[in-house]
Amino acid sequence: MRTSTFVVTPNVAVVKYWGKRDNQLNLPDNGSISVTMDETVRTITSVEFNPNLVRDSLILNGKPAKENELVRAVKVLDAIRKKAGIKNKACVISENNFPTAAGLASSASGFAALACAGAEAAGLEATERELSIFARLGSGSACRSVLGGFVEWKKGSRKDGLDSYAVQLASSSHWPELRNIITIVDPGRKRIGSAEGMEITTRTSKLYMKRVKENPKLLSAMRRAIRRRDLENFLMLTMCESSRMHAVMMDSFPPIIYLNDVSREIIESVLGFNTSKGMSCAGYTFDAGPNAHVYTISKYEKEVRTLLSEINGVEKIIISKPGEGPRRLPDDKSLI
Ligand code: PMV
Repeated sequence: MRTSTFVVTPNVAVVKYWGKRDNQLNLPDNGSISVTMDETVRTITSVEFNPNLVRDSLILNGKPAKENELVRAVKVLDAIRKKAGIKNKACVISENNFPTAAGLASSASGFAALACAGAEAAGLEATERELSIFARLGSGSACRSVLGGFVEWKKGSRKDGLDSYAVQLASSSHWPELRNIITIVDPGRKRIGSAEGMEITTRTSKLYMKRVKENPKLLSAMRRAIRRRDLENFLMLTMCESSRMHAVMMDSFPPIIYLNDVSREIIESVLGFNTSKGMSCAGYTFDAGPNAHVYTISKYEKEVRTLLSEINGVEKIIISKPGEGPRRLPDDKSLI
């Protein structure tokens, strides 16, 4: 029986995933691009396959996971067991150092950590592509967290999803000055989970297909901005893309509204800052929650932090840099 422990970090998309062509396999309608964060925000997960267990168990932040969380973890574990040719059930213990399910991508780091630790505990020498596919089965965005730096999730076109996985565009050292100022306005749990929200959007939004059609152009513009470390274009594309995702959410019925008054203040404040500088120096993006991720570079970090911390309703600010991706921890750090 081998135990394996990994520390894995969330990623925050600048070209977003919102809408699936296959709900079971988490296959997206469009490609996405993200930045994997450093270990300021992180998940640690230990996995052990054990012949004495009668079912898989998952302890999340010290408590047994909810049934729906366990079901998703079992999907990842089943795929690992199938590949490794083993039948043993697994004990999984996972801890986050940031609020779970509040739009801070905890599912991304969580399922990516499960994929990495699970594959190793099962004795697999999995490739990055295999790890990305294992992680995707738990949560789509998790497929991007098995890699560090700047990452693209290729949407793929196969029915079995074997061509839908993440690849690294550039390592974290490509643009070390980049910062994500994570601005927490509401650490509570999300109102509508992303799976349910995506299902409502794909079924009811008229703007949705337009967004999907525009995606290839946006991906190439974003790849170019990253390659050239072109801050202004990177931020402009990021802000517009965030608004477009929230527009199709709003265009759904019933409308899906994740942003609140504090989120809107953050938007105004960042835009005001950019106007005062005469160029885009900071850019916001929001996932399925009201918390903001404000990208900037080290030069403006202090100013942007001060600006955001002065907004009424901002509860906490965490600053993260691009991170290197999953890291194996020694056995004495195991949570089991
Ligand atoms: O993988 P999920 O189901 O947690 O999807 C989350 C999708 C967004 O965070 C809203 C966008 C993205 O690409 O990460």
